[in-house]
Amino acid sequence: MKIGTIDLGRFPVFLAPMEDVTDPAFRLMCKRFGASVVCTEFVSSDALVRAVNKTRRKLEISDEERPVAVQIYGKEVDAMTAAARIVEQARPDILDINFGCPVRKVAGKGAGAGLLRDIPRMLEITRSVVDAVKIPVTVKTRLGWDDDSKVIVDLAERLQDCGIAALTVHGRTRAQLYTGRADWTWIGRVKNNPRLHIPVIGNGDITSPQGARECFDRYGVDAVMIGRGSIGRPWIFKEVSHYLETGEVLAPLSFEWQLDVLRREVIDSVARLDERRGIIHIRRHLAATPLFKGIPNFREVRIAMLRAESVGELFRIFQSLTPTA
Ligand SMILES: Cc1cc2nc3c(=O)[nH]c(=O)nc-3n(C[C@H](O)[C@H](O)[C@H](O)COP(=O)(O)O)c2cc1C
Repeated sequence: MKIGTIDLGRFPVFLAPMEDVTDPAFRLMCKRFGASVVCTEFVSSDALVRAVNKTRRKLEISDEERPVAVQIYGKEVDAMTAAARIVEQARPDILDINFGCPVRKVAGKGAGAGLLRDIPRMLEITRSVVDAVKIPVTVKTRLGWDDDSKVIVDLAERLQDCGIAALTVHGRTRAQLYTGRADWTWIGRVKNNPRLHIPVIGNGDITSPQGARECFDRYGVDAVMIGRGSIGRPWIFKEVSHYLETGEVLAPLSFEWQLDVLRREVIDSVARLDERRGIIHIRRHLAATPLFKGIPNFREVRIAMLRAESVGELFRIFQSLTPTA
């Protein structure tokens, strides 16, 4: 599969853009474990245009994480176009447009998935952004606004006509938010439309190597994208890419090895922010990790972990969990 001139091989596995999760350190970690493409969290076009410092910093990328995409969102054609030009100066490999965010503060204001209710505007934004930059532009969206408006098959063609280089489909509607199951049959319909030539990246609920394989085999997608399955488990990219390339399940990664990865995440997070904010930031990963499931006193340990306020305290808890301790 190719996005523009970027060749991603036979079974590309993307890291999904996730607000407050896909920071530079996490992206690099996922990349090293085998993610084919990583993406920033969504970046507000309005804030970019206003040159808000915190927002501009979201454009910081490193060569080691390439190919990397920067994702923008917004509902104004002019701001999105201007933001695209600003993003291009940060030299990402891909510019992704978010037409899928369902949260009220975004979709309710007509941006993100809100544009599924204003397709002409969505297409105008897409055309304008594609025309404004030289790097490949991709779009990430959902099946439609709600059950009665699953427009994705037709919409995919129209987005293709705007000149995008690939399309990511999250198999839910806006109304579903993150509930229910992603409906991959719709993703399959998009992919199997003979008029659609651009690559389709399927997204939603992939949490295992076998699950990823099934998405390629049953629905014919060109790539898969993993989001929540990587939180607290960035090594999922190692497991998935190994299985896709060899057809064999990777030998189990030791508890100690996985714990070391989590330690690294804590250290990276604290280095990027500061001890207090870094620990708060990484709690989501510690809460989600499958690593501690099944250990004795799981509940108490989890509570203690999520209450820890210093790296020392956290690492002492980790140490107490190692099988040799
Ligand atoms: C915490 C969180 C933050 C997210 N932020 C974004 C975002 O910034 N841009 C975006 O396109 N999708 C965002 N998403 C949606 C994911 O990219 C993905 O489409 C969704 O989680 C479904 O994939 P999954 O089942 O593999 O998690 C976010 C999801 C989560 C859980």
